[in-house]
Amino acid sequence: MATHKTVEPKRKQSFVCSWVPSLIFLSTLFFIGSALLLTDYKEVDIGFIQHPIEVTKSKICEKEECIPDGTETLPRGIVTRTSDLEMRPLWGPPKKKKSKSPMNLLAIAVGIKQKKNVNEIVKKFQLTDFAIMLFHYDGNVDGWRDLEWSSSAVHVSAVNQTKWWFAKRFLHPDIVAAYDYIFLWDEDLGVEHFHVGRYLSIIKEEGLQISQPAIDADKSEVHYTLTARKTNSTLHRRAVNLHGPGYKCFENSMDPPCTGFVEMMAPVFSRESWRCAWHMIQNDLVHAWGLDFLLGYCVQGNRTENIGVVDSQYLIHSGIPSLGGSGDGKTNDAEIDRLASMTTTVDGFDGRTSVRIASLNKFKNRWGNAVREDECWVDPFHQPS
Ligand SMILES: *[C@@H]1O[C@H](CO)[C@@H](O)[C@H](O)[C@H]1NC(C)=O
Ligand SMILES: *[C@@H]1O[C@H](CO)[C@@H](O)[C@H](O)[C@H]1NC(C)=O
Ligand SMILES: *[C@@H]1O[C@H](CO)[C@@H](O)[C@H](O)[C@H]1NC(C)=O
Repeated sequence: MATHKTVEPKRKQSFVCSWVPSLIFLSTLFFIGSALLLTDYKEVDIGFIQHPIEVTKSKICEKEECIPDGTETLPRGIVTRTSDLEMRPLWGPPKKKKSKSPMNLLAIAVGIKQKKNVNEIVKKFQLTDFAIMLFHYDGNVDGWRDLEWSSSAVHVSAVNQTKWWFAKRFLHPDIVAAYDYIFLWDEDLGVEHFHVGRYLSIIKEEGLQISQPAIDADKSEVHYTLTARKTNSTLHRRAVNLHGPGYKCFENSMDPPCTGFVEMMAPVFSRESWRCAWHMIQNDLVHAWGLDFLLGYCVQGNRTENIGVVDSQYLIHSGIPSLGGSGDGKTNDAEIDRLASMTTTVDGFDGRTSVRIASLNKFKNRWGNAVREDECWVDPFHQPS
């Protein structure tokens, strides 16, 4: 991975600050190498770089176009940087692409006990437009064979691992670069009121880079006002919860979980926002607690506008405790308050929850340290005035 040469969306601010030397070096190489290259990359969108000089230089090496580490000795045209999850026939002509519309990905962490429900979920996703990936955390893969879509799905098995552990290992942004949207869902979601085609057209039209279907609060355990379904609404982007219970949100609250927030049970990422979010997942903190509050840093621009909850296509969340779910543990508002309040301790919770809270605290500490240590980083949402 050529991370040091890759312009990640969230590095915009510090790009000029830290990467100019290597860019200049690269640019020099390229200018010497071939002037023609410049023409090739005229189209790349580099609107976010503010200094005109850097703009010219960075044309050489934008996001997808960087030379990956270790491939400098290869002719450019042979370097295949990204991949997908499409299966290829061993013999015979390649299958024709099933659909003209862009492909998306549905990935679910599953255990055989939830087979029936997972089948209902997958059947809602047209296989023509979706690659399906199952992460088996109970090691049981054979038990799924009889489902008609099973042989078209990619199955990955690793015992007792969480959805985020799998996502970090198997959904690297370069591997899933072919997919417009990535649905990273829990196995215990009720999809009776969900239509994926309508969902996609809403999030595209509204420009939501990170989204989730709303959760029906009458039939589910709902942890945050923002993710509860509003009746007679297509979608919403902020919650108002003046008196609690739970997290208090005012008309003008600008921070998660009042706005710019989705929960981790059914997030939907655009390709670019996933590229950023993947980098934020810590290898050892397998529950990804705390990530939800920071996802706003992974949308380009205003998180209030670019993150939303779709009400007209909504889910029921049964909250079954399992490795494929995020539901267990967060059972009451007082606990949510504690979790959200940056001063959480490990006392007073069951074993599973303690592990998660410890992991949440570690994550917060790492974020805090990273913010302190990165002199180039500017918080786009809390700029000193
Ligand atoms: C996985 O977790 C279950 C339940 O906690 C446990 O009984 C089992 O031994 C674990 N399996 C492995 C391979 O660690
Ligand atoms: C929702 O809209 C319908 C029709 O527009 C209306 O009859 C109904 O009262 C509305 N319900 C709520 C809760 O606002
Ligand atoms: C973000 O969008 C919201 C809603 O449109 C707006 O109220 C807010 O001022 C915007 N924030 C910034 C920093 O532009």
